[in-house]
Amino acid sequence: MVVQPVREDKFSFGLWTVGWRAVDPFGDATRPALDAVEAVHRLSELGAWGITFHDDDLIPFGSGDSAREQQIKRFRAALDDTGLVVPMATTNLFSHPVFKDGALTSNSRDVRRFALRKVLRNVDLAAELGARTYVLWGGREGSETDAAKDVRAALDRYREGIDTIAQYVLDQGYDLRLALEPKPNEPRGDIFLPTIGHALAFISQLEHHELVGVNPETGHEQMAGLNFVHGIGQALWQGKLFHIDLNGQRGPRYDQDLIFGHGDLLSAFFLVDLLEHGGYDGPRHFDYKPLRTEDIDGVWASAAANMRSYLLLRERARAFRADPRVQEALEASRLPELAQPTLAPGESPADLKADRSAFEDFDPEAAGRRGYGFAALSQLAFEHLVGGA
Ligand code: GCO
Ligand code: MN
Ligand code: MN
Repeated sequence: MVVQPVREDKFSFGLWTVGWRAVDPFGDATRPALDAVEAVHRLSELGAWGITFHDDDLIPFGSGDSAREQQIKRFRAALDDTGLVVPMATTNLFSHPVFKDGALTSNSRDVRRFALRKVLRNVDLAAELGARTYVLWGGREGSETDAAKDVRAALDRYREGIDTIAQYVLDQGYDLRLALEPKPNEPRGDIFLPTIGHALAFISQLEHHELVGVNPETGHEQMAGLNFVHGIGQALWQGKLFHIDLNGQRGPRYDQDLIFGHGDLLSAFFLVDLLEHGGYDGPRHFDYKPLRTEDIDGVWASAAANMRSYLLLRERARAFRADPRVQEALEASRLPELAQPTLAPGESPADLKADRSAFEDFDPEAAGRRGYGFAALSQLAFEHLVGGA
């Protein structure tokens, strides 16, 4: 099927994704370094809309000011040449040994101060480049032993860190929101804010909670055995889905970062359906790793594959929604009834108590015999997905 990504699809890629040289805990790089300017051009040719980066992806850690300026200039020129945008940026707070016990929650106060300065410096660059979202993934915020961390103190410091960054954004008048990215483990044994739910609860405790949302990643929730579609549903419901990292994962194991759809395919189908029909209009950001077996051609083939997977699933989801048999099955499943408030307008708990039809005259046995037809509905989704409908 011919599907061609266009800018309006809002597909974006991390510079660290296509730029991943495939170093893993057991082996060396299998690919040469990729220049950021080349990445911008290639992604643009493939039909992507945006590129995102960690500070250190673009400007190697420890670069001097003039090297930094020079690299930003080259990058900007490539963006201008292609029209690619920078919708999001983030900070590397995990690679350098200084962050081995975390950044914003390191036991060392001087490390926490250094980490905050590193973030603020890149927030300036993100704003300059027009980014609207700043992601914070706390890969090293956590522990391997519960003896080494006081979780309550760590969360105090995490909150202080996020509030400080948010305050800075407000002070500078930047049009930027923060998005926390949950992950249960890897590289730390246990990471703070392990799931979407933990992150949402944490955000409610922040001084500038209105500026902070989430950047959930498919594989991260699935590593914890959780339903990603439900997590995204709740983030949308709370108005907190600021950004999303799409990829593939096969159940609870190490973070695979596969191509989008190359994991739990049914979940990917329902996810695209939700994003397309659930009012999310932000970036469709791919945070994947080209397989270690690929050469540079394979890298670009895999980048294109992410976008194709999304577009094909979008086609399938649209056809599913438009199918009259599906609408009938939805009616039979009573799903539309779920949108109806349980109480009548103005009905009080006392009114409910006085309503005999709700209890005294209600027949739970009859209601218990009701079939919901979910099997038929679910099979229709499956058949649309595999092109058999
Ligand atoms: C991971 C994470 C990262 C973050 C990125 C943004 O590798 O597990 O997903 O890729 O998304 O570092 O801060
Ligand atoms: Mn990941
Ligand atoms: Mn991610």
